[in-house]
Amino acid sequence: MKKIKVGLLGCGAVGTSVYELIQKNQDKYYALLGAEIEVVKIVVHSLDKKRPSIPNQLLTLDPNEVLEDQDIDVVVEVMGGITDAKDYVLKALKNKKHVVTANKDLMAVYGQPIFELGDQEQKLVLFEASVAGALPVIGTIKNDLASNKINKVMGIINGTTNFILTKMFDEGLPLDLVLKEAQDLGYAEADPTADVEGLDAARKIAILASISFNTRVVLDDVYVEGISKIATDDIEYAKQFKSTIKLLGIAIVNDGKVEVRVHPTLIPLNHPLAKVDDVYNAIYLEGDAFGDLTFLGKGAGGFPTASAVVGDILTIGKNILNPVSKIKNCTCYLDLPIKTIKQVESHYYIRMIVADETGVLSKIASVFAENNVSIDSVIQKKLANKKAELVLLTDRVEEDNFMKAKVGIESLITVDSVTSILRSEKEN
Ligand SMILES: NC(=O)c1ccc[n+]([C@@H]2O[C@H](COP(=O)([O-])OP(=O)(O)OC[C@H]3O[C@@H](n4cnc5c(N)ncnc54)[C@H](OP(=O)(O)O)[C@@H]3O)[C@@H](O)[C@H]2O)c1
Repeated sequence: MKKIKVGLLGCGAVGTSVYELIQKNQDKYYALLGAEIEVVKIVVHSLDKKRPSIPNQLLTLDPNEVLEDQDIDVVVEVMGGITDAKDYVLKALKNKKHVVTANKDLMAVYGQPIFELGDQEQKLVLFEASVAGALPVIGTIKNDLASNKINKVMGIINGTTNFILTKMFDEGLPLDLVLKEAQDLGYAEADPTADVEGLDAARKIAILASISFNTRVVLDDVYVEGISKIATDDIEYAKQFKSTIKLLGIAIVNDGKVEVRVHPTLIPLNHPLAKVDDVYNAIYLEGDAFGDLTFLGKGAGGFPTASAVVGDILTIGKNILNPVSKIKNCTCYLDLPIKTIKQVESHYYIRMIVADETGVLSKIASVFAENNVSIDSVIQKKLANKKAELVLLTDRVEEDNFMKAKVGIESLITVDSVTSILRSEKEN
């Protein structure tokens, strides 16, 4: 009886859960495949760590015990990082092994060469866990929704920042306090930069845009802004506009061009993504046949991520037992241009400190009008020392026009400073 032999690279939060899930649900996998899935080797950094659920004889420090073992069918890369992970994945493919990876950092930068080698060697490269953990979006977009042309992907794809923004909204706490709590709860890394500054979400939206629009989008193509400048005042004004603030990844195809960005976004409280709180992730898609679809669930954590990894192992297992005629990992058959952020259209939120005197608002409105920016709504709050805080929402406008207006506003002597600018989404 054929066994599907698996080598794991990494045995941390995800690797351990992958091993445990395979043991736990082996009966089901055997019934579905007609073959056992066996983890035969696990590569780690340290043999001294306590790993109560893992048999010691499976552990090794030598990656070649996985990469060069002729009996291993599937290499599962759950170690993270880029350089070693890329070398090991490429070596696994050269050595005729199928690959599963949970590594968004790797796929957002080196997806193309990895797919090309997989195609050349006729080995599958599956990466469902690399975006939004348990949410089954990658396989769904590549297979079940392949009949569609997808024109929009938008989502909350970073649990850490969603936890932080939810707490800031619900409890009125400042970002640094909530970040500390997120670190204490294990939701944020000791170095939270990748999450807070939007890089983690940028990698995921690059992957989602590539597979959704069938054109290569890499990390460098993504405009990225994190949440580190969001103040409690912005959250309070958002509430007054019956809105909330979420870190969104947004990718849109329009007129044959791709826009792809990550930034904090003001969204109305009745928007479907406004209700996605805490560490939950959600991904919204628009396609020409299915209309719209939303996926909601746990985007991280050992078992939710292992759910996606083991799903990929099962897909490969089926393929090993009943091979498809030709493997084509890369689905990017287009080469669409990427818009600059200046070309992107959005609604805008702008907060500024101004002189508390008559005519200030009309001067600001004139600068906006000169740049074809129209104002949707205004909140004004009196401050001490004859100052006022002015917060405006604009109608939809090209970023280039809005930023020219901002420069004009900053040059008005009645305007002290522009303290915050956010983009805003009104529709889904
Ligand atoms: N954690 C999540 O919720 C989650 C969700 C989605 C995707 N992912 C992705 O899944 C991957 C793994 O994440 P994780 O949270 O499981 O990471 P982790 O807990 O830090 O575990 C990494 C594992 O890889 C081993 N390792 C790291 N570098 C190695 C190297 N150069 N050679 C040999 N072994 C090495 C470590 O060995 P030691 O144990 O000996 O230190 C450890 O077992 C990452 O790409 C991550 O982005 C994670």
